[in-house]
Amino acid sequence: MPGKKLSREKSREPENRPRPAAMGFVLPSPSALRSGARRLLKWYARNARDLPWRRTRDPYAIWVSEVMLQQTQVKTVIPYWERWMRAFPEVNGLARAKLERVLKLWEGLGYYRRARNLRAAAQKIVQEHEGKVPALFNEVLALPGVGRYTAGAICSIAFNQPTPVLDGNVRRVLTRCFGLRGDERRAVAHQGLWFLAEALVRQAAAAPGRRNCGNLNQALMELGALICVPGNPRCDACPLSLQCVARQGNRMEKFSPVGSRPTLLARRFAAFVLENEGRYLVRQRPVTGVNAGLWEFPNGEVKPDASRDCLVREVMGPGVLSLQPMMVLQHAITRYRITLEVFKVHPSRAPDAHRLADAARRATNGCWRSRQGLKRLPFTAAHGKIVARLLSADDRLRSAP
Ligand code: ADE
Repeated sequence: MPGKKLSREKSREPENRPRPAAMGFVLPSPSALRSGARRLLKWYARNARDLPWRRTRDPYAIWVSEVMLQQTQVKTVIPYWERWMRAFPEVNGLARAKLERVLKLWEGLGYYRRARNLRAAAQKIVQEHEGKVPALFNEVLALPGVGRYTAGAICSIAFNQPTPVLDGNVRRVLTRCFGLRGDERRAVAHQGLWFLAEALVRQAAAAPGRRNCGNLNQALMELGALICVPGNPRCDACPLSLQCVARQGNRMEKFSPVGSRPTLLARRFAAFVLENEGRYLVRQRPVTGVNAGLWEFPNGEVKPDASRDCLVREVMGPGVLSLQPMMVLQHAITRYRITLEVFKVHPSRAPDAHRLADAARRATNGCWRSRQGLKRLPFTAAHGKIVARLLSADDRLRSAP
């Protein structure tokens, strides 16, 4: 973007703000920011996807969509958002809902803390704001689970306030367009990106039109998701291409904020599916830690020097012996790549099946649930796939001639 470096004296920024020149980029001139904002608004008016949360101004509905969209793609989120809004159309219902129901509706989206926080924030809104999502940025920011990005998105989209947003997509667009150098995750560059995001949304607020603030922010998100993509950006379709520093220097890759991802450590687990008189043995995870409070089949880690037969006795007690492979699942949690081998297990002596199953229940601290009961419990993402397999096998049996 054309522009000039601002000297300290000419800058009208408050003293405690970082100065763009110190952040590794040239501050775009007000007219360059203005034309950038207008181009983005015009492009968004023609190209915005018709997404269900864009048809409402309800701050609660917008907030739910923003929380779901963190780390999850739009097409995955749509059915979750629709189901959630049918179950909890307004804040009061969510505040009163049982945690288990809330987690069930979130099942498969991962990061369950986000769902717990939504409910805790709804309770706070009922207690402190008479059940209405507050419109003041600082009050939104004070809600559990709401950070600067989410508060900025809610205030700009629902209340048309010039509050900036910065997620991975917006970061990439701004880094490229304004030619930000250096590691964008470093603190100064990070502040510079917020600075640019705010400058743009303020320009949008001053332009003619309604809902410009939310539209400008969503235009940046949309551009990052559809056009200014990490690998091969579609610069020909980009409204900012004439101003884009990276494009001018043909240096899209140089300005791509891709950090080296940490290598994932491999771990192996085995899960055991025990059925007794049509009911399955399941247990709830502890209330703290990974997947806190969600449900799972009894399982344990297969250490390199231990056999699965030892593990099954360790987890299920001595009465369960024979293992029948059922499925293998791969997934990643935090910094681990996990292979989960799933086995149907059977009591070692058929005549004692009932007593041995009960011993397994005590050993695992679990409980028995019918197929219908399994459907109602919120499972971890991986164990939810085991449930789906059991239920689909059940359907196949029922539809067999
Ligand atoms: N990602 C984050 N927020 C979004 C929104 N409002 N629309 C589309 N994608 C998004």
